[in-house]
Amino acid sequence: NCAQCHGSDARGSKGFPNLTDGDWLHGGAPAKLVETLTLGRQGNMPPMAAAVGTPDDVKNVAHYVLSLSGSPHDSLRSQLGKAKFTACAACHGMDGKGNQALGAPNLTDDIWLHGWGEQAIVSMVNNGKVNVMPAQAGKLTEAQIHVLSAYVWGLSNKPATLATARP
Ligand code: HEC
Ligand code: HEC
Repeated sequence: NCAQCHGSDARGSKGFPNLTDGDWLHGGAPAKLVETLTLGRQGNMPPMAAAVGTPDDVKNVAHYVLSLSGSPHDSLRSQLGKAKFTACAACHGMDGKGNQALGAPNLTDDIWLHGWGEQAIVSMVNNGKVNVMPAQAGKLTEAQIHVLSAYVWGLSNKPATLATARP
């Protein structure tokens, strides 16, 4: 039911999130997973170029975004783009760490759902993105959704992780 989009290893691909990496758009707590599966999700970033300014301003803000994850970037452009990031902060946070209530990804972790690099980010800003996870409620029973949510939870919460997390 899930592999066609998330891959048989659940690692996803461009536009389809990796479910094994502990990086969550909408949240990885068991109740959030049940909610995602039952109702589906819609990630919605509006086109932002008009709010940012000129094409050069858009390039600058893209380099600022690259700097947030320590990715290679042009530091002059990044400095110029920082002020423009206020247009993004409402969803991605002033610190760029995202907001799960809005499905806005963390831009500081070097995990890229829609591709890495200046061009990918410029395209996100210019075109925005609507990304849909279909609701499973009509296809699966509540019990099946529960089992699948537990399975997904387990993909990024390995026993070893729990053991090392203990004091
Ligand atoms: C038709 C394609 C499609 C199918 C089928 C599908 N998904 Fe998704 N799924 C997506 C997309 C696209 C997103 C990202 C939505 C967004 O960008 O907010 C997503 C998001 C998710 C998320 C949220 C990830 C996060 O980071 O918060 C979970 C969990 C998830 N899917 C699990 C599943 C499971 C389990 C199944 C099978 C029962 C499934 N999906 C079936 C396309 C699909
Ligand atoms: C209204 C909320 C909102 C605003 C404002 C917004 N974004 Fe987004 N952004 C999102 C959402 C939601 C997604 C995830 C789309 C999806 O689910 O596929 C996203 C995705 C992205 C991505 C892709 C991340 C990845 O992992 O590939 C980048 C880059 C990005 N935004 C940059 C920006 C920049 C730069 C600005 C400001 C110019 C901005 N965003 C403004 C909501 C927003």
